[in-house]
Amino acid sequence: MDDDALLTEQLAYYRAGAAAYDRPYAVREDLRELLAAVDGLPIAGDVLELACGTGQWTPGLAARARSVTAVDAAAEVLALARTRTASASPAVRFVEADLFTWQPPRRYDTVFFAFWLSHVPPARLPAFWDTVAAALAPGGKAIFIDDGPAAAAEEDVLADQPVPAVVRRLDDGSRYRVVKVFHDARVLADGLAALGWSVRVRTVGGNFIGVAEPPTGVGR
Ligand SMILES: C[S@@+](CC[C@H](N)C(=O)[O-])C[C@H]1O[C@@H](n2cnc3c(N)ncnc32)[C@H](O)[C@@H]1O
Repeated sequence: MDDDALLTEQLAYYRAGAAAYDRPYAVREDLRELLAAVDGLPIAGDVLELACGTGQWTPGLAARARSVTAVDAAAEVLALARTRTASASPAVRFVEADLFTWQPPRRYDTVFFAFWLSHVPPARLPAFWDTVAAALAPGGKAIFIDDGPAAAAEEDVLADQPVPAVVRRLDDGSRYRVVKVFHDARVLADGLAALGWSVRVRTVGGNFIGVAEPPTGVGR
């Protein structure tokens, strides 16, 4: 299983499952708590949201931003995000693009991504963090939210894979492999610090919230 095939399957899963994506947000208290936590995060200025999905986080970002640009590769989830943010002010600019090749055309004060980091293969993480750093304006911050190791208990984890992966199923019975790295908050913070970032990662229930500034000389 090579990395590219897995990433193609991962995207296919989100495209095919777009209509069902919001279900956990309707029933999971931990997700509601996380959404509310946005109010306490240092989100400001021009905001870039990576892998915005159906836009669960996007209105909360818009409420605190001068502008929001939201990127995702799945047209199906972007359509739902457009509907969800139709009355957002400022208006959200959506971009359909593959985050493994897309390069930000400008810099932003905040780069936000929720439940995306765990879908980035470990070998691609340094390049991903470089892209985030390059997207940050001087003084800008990356803010990221994801689930931690406890979430593995809820997944069908594939054993002995070259890239950590799980199997997800849709209502029609179709099965998809997706990358899923259950980051430990402390290990993640140490790894990011080793790349030169200033970072704080705190756990919130089984999830974590990170706020990070890039190495001096990058994005500053
Ligand atoms: C777990 S969802 C997160 C969505 C949203 N951030 C949230 O927290 O609800 C992952 C998102 O990544 C998107 N995605 C998958 N592969 C992608 C790629 N190569 N480039 C950009 N987005 C991608 C999917 O379409 C999906 O919306």
